[in-house]
Amino acid sequence: MLGRFYGIGVGPGDPGLLTCRAVQLLQKVPVIFTPQGKGGGEGVATTIIRDVLPAETQVVSLHLPMTGDESRLQEAWDEAARQIYEVLASGREAAFITIGDCLLFSTYGYLLKSLQKINPEIEVESVPGITSFCAAASRVNIPLAEGEEPLLIVPALRDPEELRPLLRQFPNLVLMKVASRFDGVYDLLKEEGRDKSSLFISRCGTAEEKIEKDLSRLVGQKLDYLSLLLVKQKGEEI
Ligand SMILES: C[S@@+](CC[C@H](N)C(=O)[O-])C[C@H]1O[C@@H](n2cnc3c(N)ncnc32)[C@H](O)[C@@H]1O
Repeated sequence: MLGRFYGIGVGPGDPGLLTCRAVQLLQKVPVIFTPQGKGGGEGVATTIIRDVLPAETQVVSLHLPMTGDESRLQEAWDEAARQIYEVLASGREAAFITIGDCLLFSTYGYLLKSLQKINPEIEVESVPGITSFCAAASRVNIPLAEGEEPLLIVPALRDPEELRPLLRQFPNLVLMKVASRFDGVYDLLKEEGRDKSSLFISRCGTAEEKIEKDLSRLVGQKLDYLSLLLVKQKGEEI
């Protein structure tokens, strides 16, 4: 009989933000697959769960490259899925852990498709995690949205100019993956009068956490990939 597969969102960084269901599973699933960190080291998700895992848990780190090369990515997901399936086919349960929520901008979604290509009958449980932006808003006690206000969550990976109409349309935005485009995004926020109603946070919930309200201080800096901006309405204090 096939083992069950779990995708577990482990929250943004603070182990205290793991859900009860995540902890319960992490203490019983014998094989945990984790995304490898930079340079082959321990990934952020593994650091979050380290103290929760029983000593006998087998931890397998997967090489999942961060590249725009679709065919290399597909190969990596398929290879990772093959490794996971080997465990499931032996009758053992396995889990893949991922930062934040497991179904928001996560490799887990791709991995799951690759796994279901191998065998669509696999029993799967996805365990939601606290998203980075929910944790960030809580960290600074700022509502993400209220009443009838919409909230837009967008990866800021492309030409910042594409964000201009969105800034004009939405009172509340979360700009994720903002690190590599930060300077251009800052210029845009300034032009649109939103720089003073925005807040930067990186590595939320970890010892390296950085919160910055004065965005001008970040211009020209190399920023951590685990960074986001909360953008509120023009004139709103943040
Ligand atoms: C691949 S996405 C992962 C999103 C994650 N699944 C979630 O639910 O938040 C990576 C992006 O999430 C955001 N992120 C994840 N963890 C973060 C943290 N601890 N602090 C700030 N931003 C974080 C950053 O915008 C980063 O570029």
